[in-house]
Amino acid sequence: MISLIPYLVAELHALGVPKPKTWGGFWDIFGERLVDLLNVQEGERVFDIGTGGGSVLYPLTRRVGSSGQVIGVELCDHCAKATNAEIQRCKISNAEVYFMDARQAEFEDGSFDCITAGFIGWDDYFDFQKLEYKKPDDLMEAIRRLVKPNGRFGLSTWLKQEDLDWMYDFLTSHSIESKRNYTIESEEGWNIILSEHGFRTIRALKESVTYSYKSVDFWWKEMMDYDWVVNGENGKVISDSLKQEAYNAIQRCLTKEGEVPFRRDALIVTSILQD
Ligand SMILES: C[S@@+](CC[C@H](N)C(=O)[O-])C[C@H]1O[C@@H](n2cnc3c(N)ncnc32)[C@H](O)[C@@H]1O
Repeated sequence: MISLIPYLVAELHALGVPKPKTWGGFWDIFGERLVDLLNVQEGERVFDIGTGGGSVLYPLTRRVGSSGQVIGVELCDHCAKATNAEIQRCKISNAEVYFMDARQAEFEDGSFDCITAGFIGWDDYFDFQKLEYKKPDDLMEAIRRLVKPNGRFGLSTWLKQEDLDWMYDFLTSHSIESKRNYTIESEEGWNIILSEHGFRTIRALKESVTYSYKSVDFWWKEMMDYDWVVNGENGKVISDSLKQEAYNAIQRCLTKEGEVPFRRDALIVTSILQD
């Protein structure tokens, strides 16, 4: 069934209700998809781990409505403050973000109907190549404790980020020892993690989004926010002449509007806690 919510939201914004600012682009598209696939219902209480710019949290607030509640948690103080400020500015009354590690969340057992985790990354805990744990998973233990029996947990994770691959290939082709900056997680790995923690009805769906950086300058600025260089500061190694080479190399990829298009592929996984 096609959701009417994005159309109703567009109508509300046209009527002057402020639209919360997020990180935009692919974050918002994947955030909406995660909330859709988790089938969040009016009146539910939801815990959103790693709220960031709110791309999962805002669709959740619209779904649960005034009788529901969304609690977000963030390890980044600045992100929590910025998203709380947006919540206030847009007069969203059913959400709040705490500067808190989800593993230390002091809510009672079974406090939430649903838990979401958008692009948190599980590679610290789990080796998705060897399909085995590296260390005990205290984050998944916290999730299992906080969700009600028969409650749902949904997550999104990157499969491919063409923009980061482009920069990685460019830097390594110039003999700069670089980090790839993301780990590809897999459906097989997630089946193991979730079933070991008592979740069933595990469903995984691959989704792709084509995204354009509005200009070459904007693309470069976004790329330079990543910590590429293995042993040293980006600024010292990624010189102006290298930047010029990157600008020349990207020209052949541009759209006729001068935008820089890339594709991002994600895996969205939903599951239900065994009663
Ligand atoms: C890549 S961002 C994604 C933001 C948002 N979920 C989305 O999908 O647009 C992941 C965020 O998770 C936060 N995070 C990671 N582990 C966390 C934890 N244990 N508790 C709270 N926040 C966490 C990070 O600080 C980061 O801002």
